[in-house]
Amino acid sequence: LVAAMEGVEETYIMIKPDGVQRGLVGEIISRFEKKGFLLKGLKLFQCPKELAEEHYKDLKDKSFYPKLIGYITSGPVVCMAWEGVGVVASARKLIGATNPLQAEPGTIRGDLAVQTGRNVVHGSDSPENGHREIALWFKESELCQWVPAQAPWLM
Ligand code: TYD
Repeated sequence: LVAAMEGVEETYIMIKPDGVQRGLVGEIISRFEKKGFLLKGLKLFQCPKELAEEHYKDLKDKSFYPKLIGYITSGPVVCMAWEGVGVVASARKLIGATNPLQAEPGTIRGDLAVQTGRNVVHGSDSPENGHREIALWFKESELCQWVPAQAPWLM
């Protein structure tokens, strides 16, 4: 079973309000699906200020923090929990550098964004934060424990 495999991790991925507004939800979800990760939770959600502040609490002394909280709460976000071997670091690679102008072409930010303050997607930076953020953004009942059906060509 997937959950019993060595190196299986979970990560919290979030399409930020600009990604939703620009109609990039399907495109961004596709990249994680096509890579081969397992979707465990998915919802469109208007984030309250208190939750945004808790999520970004490590950045609260940064000059950009108030703008960041304003941005994340400016419209609905898409919250996702993804599972897979090495998913935390791999998702960060798929997402690309924080500054989209430095993100490699082929990455989500490299292909779809320009500004650091409008970089369309979030991904947890460690397995510990993956657990923490999934627990912060999802209720247990919103997460599905499931195993993909075995395709005949893999048997
Ligand atoms: P950070 O955790 O450093 O980056 P990442 O999202 O790649 O893990 O920062 C969190 C978010 O804060 C980042 O996605 C966009 C915003 N941010 C700014 O608006 N200005 C900045 O100078 C930085 C470093 C981040």
